[in-house]
Amino acid sequence: MKNFRYHNYTEIIFGKDSENEVGIHIKKYASKILLHYGGGSIKKSGLYDRVKSALEKENIEVIELGGVKPNPRLSLVKEGIKLCKEHNIDFILAVGGGSVIDSSKAIAIGANYDGDVWDFFMGKKIEHEPLKLGVILTIPAAGSESSVSCVITNEETLIKKGVNSPLIRPMFAIMNPELTFTLPKYQTACGIVDMFCHILERYFTNELHVDVTDGLCEGLMKAIIKNAERILKEPNNYEIRAEIMLAGLIAHNGSLDLGRVGDWASHNMEHELSAIYDIAHGAGLAITTPAWAKYVYKHNIPRFVRFANQVFNVEVNPFNLEETALKGIEELEKFFRSLDLPTRLSEVSEIKADDELFKLMAQKIVETYGTIGRFVTLEFDDIVSIYRLAK
Ligand code: NZQ
Ligand code: ZN
Repeated sequence: MKNFRYHNYTEIIFGKDSENEVGIHIKKYASKILLHYGGGSIKKSGLYDRVKSALEKENIEVIELGGVKPNPRLSLVKEGIKLCKEHNIDFILAVGGGSVIDSSKAIAIGANYDGDVWDFFMGKKIEHEPLKLGVILTIPAAGSESSVSCVITNEETLIKKGVNSPLIRPMFAIMNPELTFTLPKYQTACGIVDMFCHILERYFTNELHVDVTDGLCEGLMKAIIKNAERILKEPNNYEIRAEIMLAGLIAHNGSLDLGRVGDWASHNMEHELSAIYDIAHGAGLAITTPAWAKYVYKHNIPRFVRFANQVFNVEVNPFNLEETALKGIEELEKFFRSLDLPTRLSEVSEIKADDELFKLMAQKIVETYGTIGRFVTLEFDDIVSIYRLAK
C-alpha cells in the first residue's frame, strides 16, 4: 500500500428539501455570490425559484451566469471570471451537474489570478487561493461535487483538459435525490456509467496489498449495478435515486484512491471523443472502457478474474483463467448496453470512426500527456489499437 495524505473537507448535506437551506450554508462564507447554472433544467423544475428565495431569505446578493453547456467551455469560464472581478465576488454557487460545477471551479481559479486561467490546464501549478464554492447537485455522475478535479474544453483548440488540486474542492455539496427525478433516462444512464468507471479506473491498479479499497470498490460497483437496473424502471423512487447519488459521491471523493494508483487511460481517451464530438462523457466511457479492458487484460489476468467474479458473479474456471477474465469484460459491456448506451464508436452517428480519426485523437493525447495509463502504460500505437477495438 502506498503512503497517502487525505483531507476531503467538502461538507455533504444529503436528503429531502436540503436545497432550501442553501442560504444558511453560504452565509458562513459570503453575502454576495455568483450563481452559476446550465441550460435551463433548473428553471423548468422550479429549483431555480426555490434557490433564489432561499438566498433572498438570508439577504445574499446574487449575480447570475447561466448557460453552461455539457462539456463546459472556456469562453463562458472567462465571462464568469470577468463578472467575479467586476463585482468583487468571492463565493460561487454551482447549481447543476459536473459541467456547471467544473465551470464554477475554473471561474474560482481564474477570478483570483491575473493571467489566463487556461495556464493551469496546460500544467501550471495552482499556488494561489481560488474563490470558495458550494454546490447544489442535480445529476449524480461526475463526482465533481467533492472531487479535486475540473475539466474544461477550450473550444478554439478542441482540447478538453482537467486540472487537479485539493484547493478546488467545494466547501459544501447539497444533495437531494428528489432533484434527480427529472433526469431523462439517457442522462441517468450516462451518469451511472461515469460513476462506475470512476471506480473501475481505480480498481485496476498494480498495487498488491489494497484489500480494503478493493473491497470498497467491488461493493460499490455491485450496488451500482443492482440499483441501475431498478432506476430505469422506477425513476421516481427516492431510495433508488438516493443509492445512486451516494454511489456517485463516494466513487470520486478520493476515498477509493487511498494507498493505490488508478489507471485513467479510458478517461483520457474519452475526453478526446467529447472534445471533438461533444458527446456525453458517460456515453463516451461506455465505448472506451470495454475496448481498453480488451487491450490490457493480459497484463494482470488474476485481477480481471477477480473483477469478473466479485463484481459480475462470473464463475471462475480454474483451468482457463483467461476465459473467465474475458467473460467479465463481456459482462461489463452488457451492463452498459443494458442502460441503452452504445458501446461501439460505429453506433454513434456523428462519429466518423476511421483510422484518420483514431490517429488524430491518439496524436492529441500524446502531445498533451506523453503516455497515458498507470496500470498499463499506453503509447501512440496502443491508443490507436484501442480506438480500433472500440470501432
Ligand atoms: O444544462 P441543464 O439544462 O441543466 O441540463 C443538464 C445537461 O444537459 C442535464 N441535467 C442536469 N441535471 C438535470 C438535468 N436535466 C434534468 N433534470 C436534472 N435534474 O443533464 C445534462 C448533463 O449535465 P452535465 O453537468 O454535463 O453532466 P455530468 O454531471 O455528467 O458532467 C459531465 C462533465 O463533467 C466532466 C465531464 O468530462 C463532463 O465535462 N467530469 C468531471 C469530473 C470532475 N470534475 O471530477 C470527473 C469526470 O470524470 C468528468 O470528466
Ligand atoms: Zn468521469
